[in-house]
Amino acid sequence: MTTLHGIDDLVVALRELGEVLQPVRVAATLRGVRIDPRTLEPFMTWSPGRYTRNLVARDSAFELIAICWEKDARSMIHDHADSDCAFVLQTGAITCENYRVAYPDGFEKGPCDLRQTTTRTLREGEIDMRSGHLSVHRVGSCDGRAVTLHVYAKPIDACTVFDEDGTTKVMPSHYDTAPAPTAG
Ligand SMILES: [Fe+2]
Repeated sequence: MTTLHGIDDLVVALRELGEVLQPVRVAATLRGVRIDPRTLEPFMTWSPGRYTRNLVARDSAFELIAICWEKDARSMIHDHADSDCAFVLQTGAITCENYRVAYPDGFEKGPCDLRQTTTRTLREGEIDMRSGHLSVHRVGSCDGRAVTLHVYAKPIDACTVFDEDGTTKVMPSHYDTAPAPTAG
């Protein structure tokens, strides 16, 4: 039987991992987690043809973001800055296209050599993990709408995005929605 947790329980569990979140412990925390949809409702926003990033919680150690993927919405091809990233699929299906990236002229200098390697489809409760600048992928919904919960440790304020031809640019992160700051 699957136990449903409130989203606040997940935030508490992540905070208990300390100031430096170990990827293996984040994975163990996220794997198979099913969040009660009623507690996710405040973070569900939808926009035609794209995905929305909805901040759930953020501190110096990590950010937890609920991403709502419209049908056939896809991310850009991107890296993960200097952070570790893990996500767990809540509803729908998600395709991860993985890329191998090499910089013939030196790290992040000039166009890179970008090659698609493997593709994987995630189902509900499954997780994907990424780490750092050489962990490059594109993520998208592949069976109607999807909802994923992402942990970035530490929070990512900008990452590198890639065109198919290997040109790159730094893209600042943004939130479509964020909780109102609380006093104190
Ligand atoms: Fe990613």
